[in-house]
Amino acid sequence: MNQTSPVIVALDFSSEAETMQLVDQLDPSLCRLKVGKELFTRCGPSLVKQLVDKNFDVFLDLKYHDIPNTVAHACSAAADLGVWMLNVHALGGEKMMLAAKQALADEHAPLLIAVTWLTSSGQIELDALGIKATPQQMVSRLAVMSQNAGLDGVVCSAQEAPILRQDMGSDFLLVTPGIRLADSEQDDQCRVVTPKKAIADGASYLVIGRPITQSKDPCKVLRTINSDIS
Ligand code: C5P
Repeated sequence: MNQTSPVIVALDFSSEAETMQLVDQLDPSLCRLKVGKELFTRCGPSLVKQLVDKNFDVFLDLKYHDIPNTVAHACSAAADLGVWMLNVHALGGEKMMLAAKQALADEHAPLLIAVTWLTSSGQIELDALGIKATPQQMVSRLAVMSQNAGLDGVVCSAQEAPILRQDMGSDFLLVTPGIRLADSEQDDQCRVVTPKKAIADGASYLVIGRPITQSKDPCKVLRTINSDIS
């Protein structure tokens, strides 16, 4: 299957029926899919397997953060589902990330990326923790830690992509949510970037939810995005 699109559609649904209603309109050549905490908690590994069996590249976005042994076993279980990419919280530390990477050490291993400093947290949260850094410094620090642990990349805001691309080199994956088409609603995202700008700024993959999932014609939106960024 020709999976060339950098678009990852966020399946932020609460049931299998809603999810499959969208997925049945999509094609693995047009996009990859992201399963997050809500959908996974409601529908479980069997839904992930269904998506994998339909030949989609699946990003399992469960953001593991626990002691190294527990995270390593969780990553191994995720890999057994056949997912294409999964993630951990960089705040779990380098030892935890190393253990996660080691648990995925075979040739069919999924990509492993880290969440740095959540875009929902800012300076206030850093100050409350007594961490003397700006959110940008925190993101950069955690990205370096992730790279040192051998991870393939990080989730970051598209607005952080230019600096991270420059600092982390061309092979490090930057996976960016907060993407909006020029004419789409901003929803609850504060700082949004268009697909074209995100790619130009160094993003490797774009996580896009509502502009596609809430559209009357998701395939048409996807085709437009794919042609804009090709
Ligand atoms: O619908 P929308 O395009 O805003 O969806 C964005 C997706 O990316 C959601 O699944 C959201 O949880 C995820 N995400 C985000 N911001 C982050 C990390 C993940 O919007 N910092």
